[in-house]
Amino acid sequence: MLINANTAISTSAVLLVPYSKWHVPRYHVWMKDEEIQTATASEPLSLEEEYAMQQSWRHDADKLTFIVCQPLPEPLSKAKQKYAIRESDDSADRMLGDINLFLRVDDGEAGDSSAPQIIGEVELMIAEKHNQRKGFGRASLLTFLRYIVDHEAQILDEFMNGNITSAASSESVARVPKPWRLECLSVKIGQGNGRSLALFEGLGFQKVSEEPNFFGEFELRRVDLGREKVDGELARFGIEGYVEVPYRDEK
Ligand SMILES: CC(C)(COP(=O)(O)OP(=O)(O)OC[C@H]1O[C@@H](n2cnc3c(N)ncnc32)[C@H](O)[C@@H]1OP(=O)(O)O)[C@@H](O)C(=O)NCCC(=O)NCCS
Repeated sequence: MLINANTAISTSAVLLVPYSKWHVPRYHVWMKDEEIQTATASEPLSLEEEYAMQQSWRHDADKLTFIVCQPLPEPLSKAKQKYAIRESDDSADRMLGDINLFLRVDDGEAGDSSAPQIIGEVELMIAEKHNQRKGFGRASLLTFLRYIVDHEAQILDEFMNGNITSAASSESVARVPKPWRLECLSVKIGQGNGRSLALFEGLGFQKVSEEPNFFGEFELRRVDLGREKVDGELARFGIEGYVEVPYRDEK
C-alpha cells in the first residue's frame, strides 16, 4: 500500500516506519529463525525473494506494513517534526520487528445472503528474544490501531480501488456497501502461542470460536474500532506523544 510510503509514526514507546528496502537484510536474518517461522506461519525465503516481498508489501493495495523500531531518543517538538527521522533512527540495530495489515473482502458462508464485508487481518512480530516482553508488541499494536482508525477511509479507498489480490470475486467486491468501513480486525494465532493470545485478548480481541481451526489456530476479532477506545488504551499503557511525521523516499 502506498498510503504510508512517506509516513513514520513516533510515540514514547516505539517508532513505526514504512517497510523499505534498506530494512530487508535484517528482516531476512530474523526470518531464518525456525521458532519465528513457526510462530508467524512463514516459509523461509531467499534474500532476493525477501526483496520482492518487500516491494509487494509496498505496492499491493491490500497490504499495509510498518517496521517496528526503538522509540526516538527524545520526544519530537513541533519545530523538529518536518525533518524528524534520520537514517540512524531506523538503522538495522534499532529494528525490533514488524506489524502488518492484510485486507480482504469476506463473502460470508455459502448461502449467506448478507452483504460482503471488509476485514483486516493483523500480523505482529517482535523478532528477537532479548526485545520481547518489554512492551514493544503491545505498543506497536496500539500505535498501529490508532493509525488505522484515523486513516480508515483512505486505507479502504486505496484497497477498494486497487487490484485486489485476495480470493473475493469482483462481483462481491462491487457489493460491499458504501460508505466502506472495516467490519473488524482479525488475528490468527497458533493454539500454543499463549503470549500472543494474551496480548491480543488483553486489547479487546475475542476468540471467534472456542475450538481452533483445521490449522490449529484461533481466530480473534476486535470490532470496536473507535478512536476513543484506542486513545484510552494508549493512555492506560503510558504510550504518549503519537505523531505522524514525514519519512524519506525509498528511491
Ligand atoms: C507475541 C509477541 C508479539 C509479544 O510481543 P512482546 O513485545 O514480547 O510482548 P509485550 O511485552 O508487549 O507484552 C504484552 C502482553 O502480552 C502477553 N505476553 C507477552 N509475552 C508473554 C510471555 N512470555 N508470557 C505470557 N504472556 C506474555 C502479556 O499479556 C503481556 O502483558 P503484561 O506484560 O502486562 O503481562 C512477541 O513475543 C513475538 O513477536 N513473538 C514471536 C512471533 C509471534 O508469536 N507473533 C505473533 C503471531 S500472531
